[in-house]
Amino acid sequence: MTSTEALIETLNTTDKSIFHGDEISRMKAARAARKLAQRLEAPWERMYTEIINKSSELVSVKTCTDVKLWSCLSSTPQTSAHLAEKTGMDQGLLRRMLRVLVTMDFVEEADVDTYVETEMSKELRDPDGMILGLDMYYSLSLKMTQLLPEYFKRHGYRIPEDISQAPFKWAMGMPEYKDGFWAMIDEIGLSPKFNGFLSGLRRGQPSWAALWPVEEKLLEGWDGKSVLLVDIGGGKGRDICNLAEVIHENHANARLVLQDRPSVLEEARASGLHPQIETMPHDFFKPNPVHGARAYFEHSVVHDWPDKEAREILTQIKNSMQSGYSKLLLMERVMPESAKEVDPNLASIDLHMAFNFCAQERTEVQWRALLQSVGLKYVGYQPVFGKTYILEAELP
Ligand SMILES: C[S@@+](CC[C@H](N)C(=O)[O-])C[C@H]1O[C@@H](n2cnc3c(N)ncnc32)[C@H](O)[C@@H]1O
Repeated sequence: MTSTEALIETLNTTDKSIFHGDEISRMKAARAARKLAQRLEAPWERMYTEIINKSSELVSVKTCTDVKLWSCLSSTPQTSAHLAEKTGMDQGLLRRMLRVLVTMDFVEEADVDTYVETEMSKELRDPDGMILGLDMYYSLSLKMTQLLPEYFKRHGYRIPEDISQAPFKWAMGMPEYKDGFWAMIDEIGLSPKFNGFLSGLRRGQPSWAALWPVEEKLLEGWDGKSVLLVDIGGGKGRDICNLAEVIHENHANARLVLQDRPSVLEEARASGLHPQIETMPHDFFKPNPVHGARAYFEHSVVHDWPDKEAREILTQIKNSMQSGYSKLLLMERVMPESAKEVDPNLASIDLHMAFNFCAQERTEVQWRALLQSVGLKYVGYQPVFGKTYILEAELP
């Protein structure tokens, strides 16, 4: 075997099992592999990979989701004829779409024209999970893809600072709608899909409570009586469930409070929450009724808001904190200063924050300045996984 063949063989046989659960190294390697593909492809190939292929990939995934292909697949190889019978699709069309799905590793070809499930197809089988992101994409992002270049042209290539002018409203044909993203997705019936998508993503992500020093940072110094943690804007409660799973055995009486909008908490209860969790409807622009908790936690909440609104949210939390005892924990992505360090998901989410909320993913310097601007003392930040960190602040 030549050294080139040996390299190709190594690349073809490497998968996540070699990382033995080390998520940080796995993510770093995935990023390096993406960069490797970019260095290996010629510009004309990259034009296909990055742009032209996207529409056939998305149409194939959406069509095959609509006909419930994911539930028809199993570990037993099936031909396209068999799958066509099960899904009600024309075999010719299905076989052509399966080719695209095989290139994406959403489906594996076991032998010529016989197919088996993959990790991804198994994940997409859950109709209340990550697959809901596809509906979000078709309902919101696709319209933005088509219309926002024109929006930016008309608005002097600027992102408005006022959330009432958020670009997504224009793309949705509702430029006069006065409320923000959350009210609007409620109004157009997208809220359950968005929340389901988010909790599907969270289910697949590592548990913050297993990776962050809960014992040292939260339990040591807890008085045993106050609320241990309030998860504000906690969605369907994945993060607070993660904490409950870690502490339940030794601290089954610790109070864990999940706050969000009433409709979201209803969904959270319907999907099932760890028994240790209390739900409490709360608007985070109003005073927080939980005073003197050990920790106030927000995951991917502040990144949804421009500085003005972010300061209002943080000030309400600050007013409920107890000096020398309470901690504010923000679980957020931290944008690296150098574009070279930014992975494609983060760069893309940052722009979605702009389109939907006139907001942004902040660098550490920006997080620090934001926290200090409401009179909080910035303690520091610790990595959880990827570019996700827990930023810690307290009263001065
Ligand atoms: C991006 S989601 C994050 C959810 C969860 N923390 C997570 O990371 O999975 C933002 C959450 O903020 C909630 N939210 C938006 N406006 C709110 C408000 N005024 N008061 C309380 N929660 C709000 C939304 O319902 C949503 O669940």
